[in-house]
Amino acid sequence: METRYPADGPLKPIDKPVREHKGDYGIDGSFHRVSARAQAIGIAVYAAALAVGSGISLARGKRRTAAVTGASSLGIVASAALYIHATRVGKFEVWNQIFDDLQLRGDEAVLDMGCGRGAVLLAAAKRLPRGRAIGVDIWQADQTHNSASATLANAKLENVAERVELHTADVTALPFDDNSVDVVVSSLAIHNIPTHDGRRRALCEAMRVLRPGGRLAIVDLWETRQHADHLRDRGWHNVQRRSVGWRMWYGGPWVSARLVTAIKPG
Ligand SMILES: C[S@@+](CC[C@H](N)C(=O)[O-])C[C@H]1O[C@@H](n2cnc3c(N)ncnc32)[C@H](O)[C@@H]1O
Repeated sequence: METRYPADGPLKPIDKPVREHKGDYGIDGSFHRVSARAQAIGIAVYAAALAVGSGISLARGKRRTAAVTGASSLGIVASAALYIHATRVGKFEVWNQIFDDLQLRGDEAVLDMGCGRGAVLLAAAKRLPRGRAIGVDIWQADQTHNSASATLANAKLENVAERVELHTADVTALPFDDNSVDVVVSSLAIHNIPTHDGRRRALCEAMRVLRPGGRLAIVDLWETRQHADHLRDRGWHNVQRRSVGWRMWYGGPWVSARLVTAIKPG
């Protein structure tokens, strides 16, 4: 698909962002000890064993056992389907909505903390014909086969490579000046930092590098209430925290993402 942005001309909000994507953005998860493939096989074998067990119970006339094991098998399959939908489809829809709401002009510097293979970074880049999309990551096993080269390959596929800048760096110590970017986004990254202190440092880094009047949007699975409280304590404006809905249920409502948005004062 061709980019629909004008090459030059007056700045105005972009009303037709490119929503389709061509890159491969992997699967989110924790693959530090067990690979994604092994996890998928384990889940499939478990669901199949329960389904077979249900059939055997039914054949033996144990209807209640058959119902329980059958429902468990279906539950696992439904949970896996929700997970795959969230990581391959739902996340993209949610972030397109977030970027619509941000109403970028197209010339901003947008920083994505923990950009992975670029699902959010490149969605931003498509809306920045005269701006920059800056991705920071340490490329650890929180997404399948994430690496700077995978993200750059996706940037080329999406025709936005010239607007994208990647840094291999920890989000708890960002290699940027104070007040140097217009928008900071982060998707499902900060919760991967193992300690509360580390997660708080990442939030403080986002707050530091954002310029006064700049906007912050963090989607994450936990600690979002603490993020919002900290931003309010520091006097940030329009601090909001809300669910992003079923599209980012990673297996079910018990693993659901929330969005924190705020504006830097000053
Ligand atoms: C689940 S992936 C999400 C990637 C991307 N934001 C997305 O939504 O597709 C989490 C990413 O955060 C990165 N990450 C985790 N801890 C990090 C840290 N301390 N500094 C930088 N990146 C980190 C991982 O390497 C991984 O690429």
